[in-house]
Amino acid sequence: MNTPNPLAIHPDNAVVWYDDKLFLLDQRVLPGETRFVACDSAADTARAITDMVVRGAPAIGITAAYGVVLAARERFHADADGWRDAVGADIELLAASRPTAVNLFWALERMRRLIGTLEVPDPVSALLAEAQAIHEEDIAANRTMGDFGAELIQGPTDIITHCNAGALATGGYGTALGVVRSAYAAGKVRMVYADETRPWLQGSRLTAWELAQSGIPVTVQSDNVAASLMARGGIGWVIVGSDRIAANGDVCNKIGTYALAVLARHHGVGFMVAAPTSTIDMGVASGAEIPIEERDPDEVLACGGKRIGPEGVAAHNPVFDVTPAALVDCIVTERGVVQQPDAEKMRALMGVLA
Ligand code: MRU
Repeated sequence: MNTPNPLAIHPDNAVVWYDDKLFLLDQRVLPGETRFVACDSAADTARAITDMVVRGAPAIGITAAYGVVLAARERFHADADGWRDAVGADIELLAASRPTAVNLFWALERMRRLIGTLEVPDPVSALLAEAQAIHEEDIAANRTMGDFGAELIQGPTDIITHCNAGALATGGYGTALGVVRSAYAAGKVRMVYADETRPWLQGSRLTAWELAQSGIPVTVQSDNVAASLMARGGIGWVIVGSDRIAANGDVCNKIGTYALAVLARHHGVGFMVAAPTSTIDMGVASGAEIPIEERDPDEVLACGGKRIGPEGVAAHNPVFDVTPAALVDCIVTERGVVQQPDAEKMRALMGVLA
């Protein structure tokens, strides 16, 4: 699951269970500083998700699952009879940490279901095994998606990606960057253009660091460059991840993704979304129903810790947007590829009867 030194500074080590604790590679300070934050309780874990020590939809889900293990350990040792109720409250706390990525709720539901059926005297090892299974399944899904996505790419070509949908955002290997990794290994990628992704700079701080660590050629560009780059030619695909995909194939992802999809369609560039099925929410009919997180306006009015906007001016900071399914060429999942997604194809992928 992890590199030989479990606490090595490595993109695959965004979320590490080691020495009976949860360690998170602190994504707020990368690449300038490299450090882990240790979590010992559900409250620590929820705070780390809210504060974006860890971020990215699958990584948030995996982290929350380990948070349930920490909660169960604490609650069971305090009260071996009443621990389930107390853990229920901890799960609510974890669920309130961020609203948009459905992987968080998916992972918590999986842990909650197991708690409901557990009959062993000590629940901790069974819950830890489940969290580790969620983690390992995510890595395996990413590798499968990498192969499926790479097959669709006729190279060599240039690729634009947005935000960070890499190892840092997942259990390891990455979703969009997993496709990039597999395609690069197959000689199909010339250059990855990483949008810097204002305001939090996931692209320049995280994607560029992660790809450089892996020896994959990367060029950072401001979020305004994509149109002229596509017009110049040479971009084969925009490849992004997702935080939640609705039942009709609408794709919610980092703010700015929708603009890229419009640009891609205009310029005849492919638009690929790579996401595990844990990101698909068949409970929301369309993207309009997905809650979009609004973060502190100061994230927009400052950059690198320095105020850049005038005092007293308002800013709005919705951190995700929805790309309509009609602009998506394909959704790559570990179960297969959905071309030109719509409600019927999503139902077929997820095995839901009409
Ligand atoms: O706000 P963030 O950094 O958690 O947003 C992350 C994204 O938007 C990613 O693109 C998405 O989670 C896909 S991660 C494999």
